[in-house]
Amino acid sequence: MKWENEIENLVFDKRTLLNIAKLMKKGLLDRIEGIVSQGKEANVFLGKQGEREIAVKIYRSETTNFQNRMKYLLQDPRIKKVKKTQYDLACAYASREFKNLQIAHQLIQDVPQPFHHEGNVILMDFLGKEGIPYPQLMYEEVSKQDFQDLWEKLWRLWEGGLVHADISEYNILKGPRNYIIDWGQGLPRKSEMGLTYFKRDLQNLIRFFKKRGIDVEEAESRLRALES
Ligand SMILES: Nc1ncnc2c1ncn2[C@@H]1O[C@H](COP(=O)(O)OP(=O)(O)O)[C@@H](O)[C@H]1O
Ligand SMILES: [Mg+2]
Repeated sequence: MKWENEIENLVFDKRTLLNIAKLMKKGLLDRIEGIVSQGKEANVFLGKQGEREIAVKIYRSETTNFQNRMKYLLQDPRIKKVKKTQYDLACAYASREFKNLQIAHQLIQDVPQPFHHEGNVILMDFLGKEGIPYPQLMYEEVSKQDFQDLWEKLWRLWEGGLVHADISEYNILKGPRNYIIDWGQGLPRKSEMGLTYFKRDLQNLIRFFKKRGIDVEEAESRLRALES
């Protein structure tokens, strides 16, 4: 299969190609082998550095959701001003996801370890085997232990000053452990919306596990205490 052609048709505008070329020149990436996921705002590819598998996340500079993304981005106090082009916005998201991944990796380890950021492109550990990512929590059986593990991770992040802000059964991969991915929306606890998003993340986690028949009563009362 000619991945190159397919990939080019999908997302690789000139600036993205340039960023990929830079990563290759730096020896951080040897090749891109295929597409793993096509999202609204970013695409994820399987890359290789030698035999090592790498996740290459590329924020798109064409998107229909420009105004919304700008609004969310400006809620983050670390983001002072954003030049208002789609490409700059894509870079700001990539940069934010990269920084969040670094912090989250220090705090809870179970996120993809990021190792480079170039414009709208991020390189991180590939969580999966033989080019297949670990499945999203949505498609897996789950236990009370999974709930407790994730609940505790969200609290450890909070205590360390970071909120994911987009927690769902799609942004958690279930492998040997439960990994939290997709950190482009993450923001510091101290930001104006920090607590609001943290509570929403907890609520999303509770809702999913409750739907799966897991007893979440204790967590619900802890969340209620946070509300008052
Ligand atoms: N580090 C990674 N390792 C393996 N697969 C990944 C990685 N990051 C993302 N993916 C795959 O790509 C999908 C989309 O990634 P995500 O970061 O959630 O992007 P989106 O913003 O499109 O939701 C994930 O569900 C997973 O299948
Ligand atoms: Mg996602």
